[in-house]
Amino acid sequence: MNIIRSIAEMQQFSKQCQRRGQSIGFVPTMGYLHVGHEQLMKRARSENDIVVTSIFVNPLQFGPNEDFDRYPRDEQRDIEIAKRNNVDVLFLPHQAEMYPDEQGITIEVRNRTDVLCGQRREGHFNGVVTVLTKLFHLTLPTNAYFGLKDAQQLAVVDLLVSTYNFPIKLVPVPTVREPDGLAMSSRNVYLTEKERMEAPFLYQALKHGQKLIIDGEKNPVNIVKEVIDFIDSNTHGKIDYVELLSYPDLLPIDKLEGQIILALAVHFQGARLIDNLILDQE
Ligand code: PAJ
Repeated sequence: MNIIRSIAEMQQFSKQCQRRGQSIGFVPTMGYLHVGHEQLMKRARSENDIVVTSIFVNPLQFGPNEDFDRYPRDEQRDIEIAKRNNVDVLFLPHQAEMYPDEQGITIEVRNRTDVLCGQRREGHFNGVVTVLTKLFHLTLPTNAYFGLKDAQQLAVVDLLVSTYNFPIKLVPVPTVREPDGLAMSSRNVYLTEKERMEAPFLYQALKHGQKLIIDGEKNPVNIVKEVIDFIDSNTHGKIDYVELLSYPDLLPIDKLEGQIILALAVHFQGARLIDNLILDQE
């Protein structure tokens, strides 16, 4: 596995692959890799000639009161995991080279961000699309792999790619879960033992909402309320949001039709957790 840290070298490598007609599968991450990330790499490996994974904890997408400084990092362990998954290039850019000065041009996401995490984490998705624009230019992907765990992120990246005509196919990958249902996340290590025991109830709350829909409940307000009650009665977490919206447009709905998303975010003392289910309606 080739480890590249410099922007020029990364760009040179990608151009060379392109000239040779090789497809590039790209998996952008912030590291502290887990089985969810590995699933993205495996999928990329099976569908491309070359697999590039990046690890960059992007300061632009963290708010002033968020966990940028204490975001978990373990480069050596991540290198082993990437190697194990037959990644060809692990791109580890330096912050000073990615953001040498204050950005003279910024990208602002206008749609799909006034709900869910976008509404609560000001500027977060502007930071995500800015770093991805840079990473896409550096890695020249044919296919780029994103987890449905961050469904709003995927919806926003989909808008980025279509708005700015990136010649990239986005590949959504289903959420990978622990055996007890908890969605895998780099932040799970920050849960206390007691919180870790309560955390699987978030997925159960989503499944509870799904069951209500299957059993015939048609009112989104009732479904959201039931999911909130389920979380409140089974955990000590503080609910940030529970929302039921259309997907990927993320618009409010009063009828359950087409593709919809039931999504939640809950603050525990150790970490803020998010999860969702995307459901297909008649
Ligand atoms: P990060 O949180 O490291 O996630 C990298 C990718 O892994 C994302 O596409 C995310 O959706 C996916 N992922 C995380 N947990 C997953 C799980 N349990 N199952 C399936 N996929 C999972 O998302 C980011 O980094 C950043 O915002 C980034 C896109 C790299 C831009 O900085």
